Order: sequence, then C-alpha cells, then structure tokens
Amino acid sequence: MLNFELYNPTNYIFGKGQIEKLSKLVPKNAKILLAYGGGSIFKNGIHEQVIKNLQGFDIIEFGGIEPNPRFETLMTAVEIVRKEKITFILAVGGGSVIDGVKFISGATNFEGNPIDILKNKVLFTDLSKVISFGTVLTLPATGSEMNSGAVVTIEATQEKLVLGGSALFPKFSICDPTVIASLPKRQLENGVVDAFTHVMEQYLTYPHDAILQDRIAESILQTLVEIGPNVVENPTDYKLASNFMWCATMALNGLIQKGVPSDWATHMIGHELTALYEIDHARTLAVIAPSLYKVMFETKKDKLAQYGERIFNVSGDSIEEKAEKAIEKTIEFLHKMGMQTKLSEYTEDYKKSADFIVNRFETRGWKALGEKQNITLQRVKEIVEGSY
Ligand code: NZQ
Ligand code: ZN
Repeated sequence: MLNFELYNPTNYIFGKGQIEKLSKLVPKNAKILLAYGGGSIFKNGIHEQVIKNLQGFDIIEFGGIEPNPRFETLMTAVEIVRKEKITFILAVGGGSVIDGVKFISGATNFEGNPIDILKNKVLFTDLSKVISFGTVLTLPATGSEMNSGAVVTIEATQEKLVLGGSALFPKFSICDPTVIASLPKRQLENGVVDAFTHVMEQYLTYPHDAILQDRIAESILQTLVEIGPNVVENPTDYKLASNFMWCATMALNGLIQKGVPSDWATHMIGHELTALYEIDHARTLAVIAPSLYKVMFETKKDKLAQYGERIFNVSGDSIEEKAEKAIEKTIEFLHKMGMQTKLSEYTEDYKKSADFIVNRFETRGWKALGEKQNITLQRVKEIVEGSY
C-alpha cells in the first residue's frame, strides 16, 4: 500500500429534513452570498426551505451559475463578494454551483490575475485567504460536496480546467436524498454514471496491495449497478435515493484513492469534449471510458478481469477473456443507464476532436497521463478516435 494522508474536514450532514440545521451551521453574524444555478431551486422548493432556515441572516443572492460553470460568470460574483464584504458563501445546487463557489472562495482574495488560478492550477492551502463556504446539495454525482476540487470553464478560450487545495473543502454539506425527486431523468442518469466513473478512475488501474481500498471501491460499483437503473425510474424511493447519494459522495471524497494509484485520463479527455461540444460531463465519460479500456488493455487487463469477476460475475479461461467481457459488461451497463457510448451519436462534427485534444494537451505539456504515465499523446489520439 502506498503512503497516504487522509484529511477531510467537511461536516457531512445526511438525511431527510437536515436542512433545518442550516441556521446553526452558518457562522453567527455571517453576511451570506447565496449562490445558485439556473433556477431549479425555485421550482422544487429548496430555495424556500433555505430562506426559511436562514431567517435573521443578511443574505445577498447570486443566481445564474451555469452547468459547467463559467469563469466569466464567477468573476461577477467575486466582485460582489468583495464589494459587499461577504463573509460566508452558501452553494445551493449540483456540482456546477458548488465548483463555482469553490472558485469564488479562492479568487476573492487571490493576489494576481484570477485566470491564473485555472491556467496555473493554483493550490489553495491557506484557510485565512479563502472565503468559507457550505453547500446544500441538489444533485448527487460529482462528490464536490465533500472534496476540495473544482472544474471551471473559461468561455473565451473554451477551456475546462481544474482548481483545488485543502482550503477548499466545504465547511459543511447538507445532503438530503429527497431533493433528487425533481431531477430530470437525464441528470439522474448522469449522476450515476459520473459516480461510477469516479470509482473506476481510482480502481481500474493495476493490481496492488491495498485490499480494503479495492473492496470499498467494488462495493460502491456494485451498489451503483444494483440501484442505478431503478433510481432513475423511481427517484422518490428513499431507499434508492439515499443509497445513490451516499455512493456519489463516497466515490469522490478522497477515501478510496488513499494508498492506491489512480488514472483520471477519462476525465481529462472528457473535459475537452464538454469544452468543445457542451456534451454533459457524465456522457463524455461514457464515450471515452470504453475506448480507453480497449486502447490501454495491456496495462489494465489484470484489474479489468478482477472487476469483471467481482462486479459482473464474468468467467473465462484467461485474464484476457475475462477482461474483454468486463469491457462489454461496462458498455451494457452504460447503455442501460441511458448513455450513448460513441461520440458520433452526440455530434456530426466529431472528426476534429482527436487532433484538437492532442494539440491542446501538447500545448499544456500534458504528455503522459494515466496510472503508469503511459497514456502518451499518440494513445490519447487512439482513444478519442476509438470513441468515434
Ligand atoms: O442550474 P439549475 O437550474 O439548478 O439546474 C441544474 C442543471 O441544469 C439541474 N439540477 C440540479 N439539481 C436539481 C436540478 N434540477 C432539478 N432538481 C434538482 N434537485 O441539473 C443540471 C445540471 O447541474 P450540474 O450542477 O451542472 O450537474 P453536476 O452535479 O453533474 O455537475 C457537473 C459539473 O461538475 C464537474 C463537471 O465537470 C461539471 O462541470 N465535476 C466536478 C467534480 C468535483 N468538483 O469533484 C468532479 C467531476 O468529475 C466533475 O468534473
Ligand atoms: Zn466526473
């Protein structure tokens, strides 16, 4: 097992009705920026619940954070936080709103050009330099409610880039599974597949000595395979909703990645497809992952075979046979979850993507990705072309 440090200060508050604790969680006398997205929180009553539980606080609202949040929009919020001397930010939304708030939190007191936060991947580690924030999660998918990473898009250059650091964990996250009742089917499907792929990025590498991490990762995968198709059809079923929400958090709150190698190339390539074509984040993963498993077959076949046996009960005479069946089973699951797994099914303009992505990675100096740093630019090209 590799050495590790486990640090996660987020106060994770889970279950029905937990929003009532909001007034005790927000610091006394805080001046709050209430940040949200395109307005779903007005239709499903979450905005009303938040306001009801924050009576007496000084609140300024900032709406309009888009899915795949834009640097340009977030900078407007940064100006408000500075001008109004906001002391606490409350993110009410899915991954995009929470990620947007992480950026606002770090950018407010950032000395220098805020675009460099993204371009130079600045790490925020000093709590005294960020604005504290909490979240009310409305969409289980990204794990952003219990991690310190974020992804922000620069509209001007169509780039989707990451930021983060130990100072960017939410102070608290209220995770009430009943909020998923109002999610459109497409977003429920996205949530399951995003969480599933987060586990795969940290699990589907090569055999190692971290037995417990493998078993925890497999239990999240198995749970998602078991409940995923049902929760999409029955989002008001509390048993399904609560397990889904907890799986999505556990998939990316840092726990399963401790002491093990991780990949993340599916995400790095997928982010480019969203930047290029505005395809939903999870759907880009469903396009790239199967192709990546095929191109990186030699590196991943041992773990693919283990995954196939333990998650899908595949059998076979060789590692290769089991690994191939595991990829087929994964594609079947993605289809069952409403995903298309070919880029050409999302856009007619797909042929430019491989060269475009390779050029971008080259310019950024990303010449080797994956758990063994053997996903070279040539392989990135093969992976993207394999997804056509
Ligand atoms: O904007 P509103 O009106 O709120 O509507 C949203 C949005 O249109 C809607 N929605 C959210 N909760 C709802 C709801 N509609 C009805 N009822 C509810 N309860 O859903 C739409 C999508 O929301 P969004 O926040 O964009 O989705 P998601 O949570 O999937 O977040 C995706 C973003 O997170 C990033 C992705 O790249 C993408 O930008 N990621 C963040 C990660 C992290 N911070 O750790 C890791 C992930 O891999 C991912 O990259
Ligand atoms: Zn993701």
